[in-house]
Amino acid sequence: MSNVSRRRWRVPAWLIFLGILPIAASLYRIAVLIGTDPATVTNTDELRFFAQPVSIALHVIFAVAFLVLGAFQFVPHLRIGTPSLHRLIGYGAAVSGIIFALSGVYMVVTYPPHSLANPYIDIARIILGLAIPVMIALGIIRAIRREFPAHRAWMIRAYALAASSGAQSWLIAVAMLINGGFDATLADTMMWLGWAIGILAAEWVIHRQPRQHRARSVS
Ligand code: HEM
Repeated sequence: MSNVSRRRWRVPAWLIFLGILPIAASLYRIAVLIGTDPATVTNTDELRFFAQPVSIALHVIFAVAFLVLGAFQFVPHLRIGTPSLHRLIGYGAAVSGIIFALSGVYMVVTYPPHSLANPYIDIARIILGLAIPVMIALGIIRAIRREFPAHRAWMIRAYALAASSGAQSWLIAVAMLINGGFDATLADTMMWLGWAIGILAAEWVIHRQPRQHRARSVS
């Protein structure tokens, strides 16, 4: 593979790497749901998933689809060279984003709270879980109107909120390693930090000047 084609795939590769922990957790959750006899489960936090398996299954399957499909929308030569493929992947990602976010909100509202639940985090989940479908809808509307900078901005914002789950998982893993064990307050702090990083990173990507513009404005 040439340097140029390697560079083309760098962004989706990094995005999927960022999301690898929640993606792995999703596959694990599906495997446990399929392969476990609920009668053998005693942990009450676990039992919630078996009591309402459809919402968690929809949530994790479509969250993984959104993270993976969405990552490929950042490859410029797919966007420019094969716009019909960009549209097809885009609609797949949009439907996935809406389903995973709304099923997430549904779980916050209908599942009995986790034993370590933080109500402020749950409120944030509801707000962000509703914001993602709104952002996706705004992105689609802007694309249909051919307002592509605004389309790009809304889609980046929606993707970044979902990708924050990757940042949160890595931050929690590192914090627990440094702390020498699990700590709920530390984990919640990393959740807020992950969301903040996702929101700020999206605005940075949206507002930064493309490389060739930067070079031209310097010369
Ligand atoms: C704003 C977006 C999101 C919302 C509102 C949300 C909401 C939720 C909720 C309410 C639960 C149940 C937690 C519990 O009470 O135990 C959950 C679990 C889960 N979510 Fe999300 N989530 C979001 C993003 C994501 C993303 C992007 C992924 C990536 C794959 C993901 C993967 C998972 C997994 C794997 C679980 C199961 C955790 C376990 O096995 O204990 N979520 N989510």
